[in-house]
Amino acid sequence: MIRLFHISDLHFGLEDTRALDWVARAVRDEVPDGVVITGDFTMRARPGEFAAAARWIATLGVPVQIDPGNHDLPYFNPIERFADPYRRFRALEASIERPLQLGPLAIVRLPTTAAAQWRFNWSRGTVGVGALRRTLAQIDAIGLDRAVLVTCHHPLVEAGTKGRALTHGGNRALAELARRGVLAVLSGHVHDAFDLIQQTPAGPVRMIGAGTLSQRLRTTPPTFNDLMLDRGRLTCRVRRLEGVGAEAFGRYK
Ligand SMILES: [Fe+2]
Ligand SMILES: [Fe+2]
Repeated sequence: MIRLFHISDLHFGLEDTRALDWVARAVRDEVPDGVVITGDFTMRARPGEFAAAARWIATLGVPVQIDPGNHDLPYFNPIERFADPYRRFRALEASIERPLQLGPLAIVRLPTTAAAQWRFNWSRGTVGVGALRRTLAQIDAIGLDRAVLVTCHHPLVEAGTKGRALTHGGNRALAELARRGVLAVLSGHVHDAFDLIQQTPAGPVRMIGAGTLSQRLRTTPPTFNDLMLDRGRLTCRVRRLEGVGAEAFGRYK
């Protein structure tokens, strides 16, 4: 049996300290095999926000795997945004002492963030042709005896949440992942949790989204996903921080 905590959208700079303490305590008490974090570690990719994220991750004490989110690309520095947009994220990744490696379960990343796009809102998701090709090649190289989870920041297609991802190239990517029989595609970005089966031209595929641990709530309190893989069956329990009043919702778009 493998147990993972899937969390997302910590947004240091506008983090929810109570939610972060709650998750860190759950990790320390329950010791899952690892933690997967699907992006948006910061608000504006400031060095201090990344440093706070690194400090919090270091307290977890279990292997961690991370994806970049659209908020993790330099916001105030256009030169760096175009020249080396992932430098700050890579530094965070390098600071993680124990990367996640699980024998019977492979976790493969699919990048969905872009430094620039041919549309006004650069926060939306996009799956580049080359990025998809590289991810699919990684999956194809994995033995059939191992289950595959794919992680990305943006949901590849809309998941019925209030927040939207509008991911370019998402339909095609999801169909290719369905064709390969991946166990599920884990994502963040929309700040509400979901767990659904999406139909594609290549068959069904499961999409699981984690909520947020920040103050940028949409329709629910802070949540994280408690994933359990047992004899090929994946279950997802959404765990919700109790005691957060409804007046907190909808404050942020
Ligand atoms: Fe976010
Ligand atoms: Fe995001």
